[in-house]
Amino acid sequence: MPRQLFVTTALPYANGNFHIGHIMEYIQADIWVRYQRMMGSRVHFVCADDAHGAPIMIAAEKAGKTPQQFVADIAAGRKPYLDGFHIGFDNWHSTDGAENHELAQQIYRDLKAAGLIFTRVIAQFFDTEKNMFLPDRFIKGECPKCGSADQYGDNCEVCGAVYNPTEVKNPYSALSGVTPVLRDSEHYFFKLSDPRCVAFLEKWTQGANASGQAHLQGEVYNKIKEWLLPDEDGKRELGDWDISRDAPYFGIEIPDAPGKYFYVWLDAPIGYLAALKNRFIKLAGGATLGAQQYDAFMADPATEQYHFIGKDIITFHTLFWPAMLHFSGRKTPNAIFVHGFLTVNSEKMSKSRGTGLDPLKYLSLGMNPEWLRYYIAAKLNARNEDVEFSPEDFMARVNSDLVGKYINIASRAAGFIAKRFDGKLGAVSADGAALLTQLRVERASIEQLYESREFAKALRETMLLADRVNEYVDANKPWELAKQEGMTERLHDVCTVCMEAFSVLTAYLKPVLPALAAQVEAFLGIAPLTFDSTRQALGAGHRIGNYQHLLQRVDIKQLEALFEAPVEAPSPQPSPAGRGSEQPGGEEIAATISIDDFSKIDLRIARIVNCEPVAGSTKLLRLTLDAGEGTDPQGKPITRNVFSGIASAYQPQQLIGKFTVMVANLAPRKMKFGLSEGMVLAASHADEKSSPGIYVLEPFAGAQVGMRVR
Ligand code: MSP
Ligand code: ZN
Repeated sequence: MPRQLFVTTALPYANGNFHIGHIMEYIQADIWVRYQRMMGSRVHFVCADDAHGAPIMIAAEKAGKTPQQFVADIAAGRKPYLDGFHIGFDNWHSTDGAENHELAQQIYRDLKAAGLIFTRVIAQFFDTEKNMFLPDRFIKGECPKCGSADQYGDNCEVCGAVYNPTEVKNPYSALSGVTPVLRDSEHYFFKLSDPRCVAFLEKWTQGANASGQAHLQGEVYNKIKEWLLPDEDGKRELGDWDISRDAPYFGIEIPDAPGKYFYVWLDAPIGYLAALKNRFIKLAGGATLGAQQYDAFMADPATEQYHFIGKDIITFHTLFWPAMLHFSGRKTPNAIFVHGFLTVNSEKMSKSRGTGLDPLKYLSLGMNPEWLRYYIAAKLNARNEDVEFSPEDFMARVNSDLVGKYINIASRAAGFIAKRFDGKLGAVSADGAALLTQLRVERASIEQLYESREFAKALRETMLLADRVNEYVDANKPWELAKQEGMTERLHDVCTVCMEAFSVLTAYLKPVLPALAAQVEAFLGIAPLTFDSTRQALGAGHRIGNYQHLLQRVDIKQLEALFEAPVEAPSPQPSPAGRGSEQPGGEEIAATISIDDFSKIDLRIARIVNCEPVAGSTKLLRLTLDAGEGTDPQGKPITRNVFSGIASAYQPQQLIGKFTVMVANLAPRKMKFGLSEGMVLAASHADEKSSPGIYVLEPFAGAQVGMRVR
């Protein structure tokens, strides 16, 4: 019986395009799925947009769209990425789909029937300026567990802790910047503290599936046991889980609870099931039949369920999700596969903005998607470890391993087979047969490495085999045999061994390089390769096609172009006639505005009370500004936190104590490093590069803090 698998990656938030971190996750899962299929497993590999939640609702509002339209537009942009990197999901759905509404409500009812849902009135942060309860993601402050600054209201990206927004220290609203006030509201909870849940989770997280594989990687279990297991005082970090949010909210309505919606993380993982159900419905061509087949598939004990996820969402997947499934009477995952984060040039990636490596730019530069697949696979193991993309390393691995070792084997031999032997393979003598046997015996071990997601090791083993083949080529020198009298048969033998070896190596690489493997299969004139097919030689007399170069090398120029910063400022406009050819400061004077327009901008004299570098940024300085806005209830002077792109021009010490001009009524802006609550004025030429220098404005002596500039 073939294995039957249900495999997912995490469902990406539908508030932006994919970044390279998403692509890495999909490539990892796709390689594993392709491997499974080559082994004969039947796989449903599905994903969906994670459509719900307040951040998306707010982003949609800003974009002037309905949330539905907003997420549909994001979904419409997914295909070029997935096709471009050969990521073969069988279905792409949305958590706002009908299946998910239905499943989420059903699972909730099941949990309620199991006695695991209760309500409690809680005090929640309310933004008095925006007139709404603040979504967790729009409350920021210090992590209650590790103290890291600028963490979101629901979980800490530094230590991974999950908590209630009211536990955040020194909170502020990221929507308006105000300090939120507490208001009462009835919330629905999933009772994770129930002894049944605790007992189940303690067992499940340490457990293994039917084939003996642990549900969780060791390092993942070690991480979550901090929350799960009691401390010395018998207390557990893992508390009951607040699963409701008040309207306005883009989400799924809670049954029999008007104005209440499921918190996005309740319905998001259920989206895995919805995406699968939707696939069955599409396959069956009808909702009723599809639903029946889905139910049968999920009820079948032989069905194996796996989720690939990143390390930032472990708690949701290893505690909440298995508990939701188990206590609603459903199948729990066979395993959760957690990977680390991809960093590019050692830079940590921001969840929303990604890094300098833009996947679509990569493709549009004509860079081969399989280079990236190969490189990522060559760095991935089964552990929750970060993966670094380094351009030099990327180029070296692709050019010297993939092209230099593997492709080289075919390019050294195929021409002779075509020219000298009418495209036909010949007989293999003992030394060649021994070499091929060495290649074939490794099959089981390479299979095992793919199965256990040790992709780096699988590729390393394969490349060691390619080394052996290249040594054989070097020892036999077909290009010399070709010139020697009476060596035709040996030439045929050696080149045949090369092509047989190439076929075996291609099978070993096929999960990683599916498009290339298809090209090789066409060129070799063979049926789609599987691991099993490597047992069988192509055989004497087999005819291969004409060799065309299969894979280019990475060109350094492509990498330079890939990481070249996008041009930010538009080039200066040509000067209008009659104004002379010189443009002041390198740019045209902007369109005329009225005095009313100008007076909308509230400029104030502010004192720079502190200035410091920003870790992780070479451009920004963090300024603390006093604009005379009084003191807070604790008697501390109210100051503003402002990030300014002036690090190239000033040392922090030069600025501390100076007066400057601040835009005091600019909407606060959430940045990677925190909230920026204003802007300081500075002068620069339109083309900062040709005419370097940024000059912060300073008022004449006598100006006082808080004075308006008009
Ligand atoms: N919507 C949630 C997941 C819900 S699953 C029921 C979410 N979305 S996300 O878009 O922020 O992240 C999607 C996946 O991408 C997660 O598994 C996350 O860990 C992964 N990655 C995000 N940044 C990443 C890297 N820099 N590197 C590798 N994977 C990364 O979380
Ligand atoms: Zn923390």
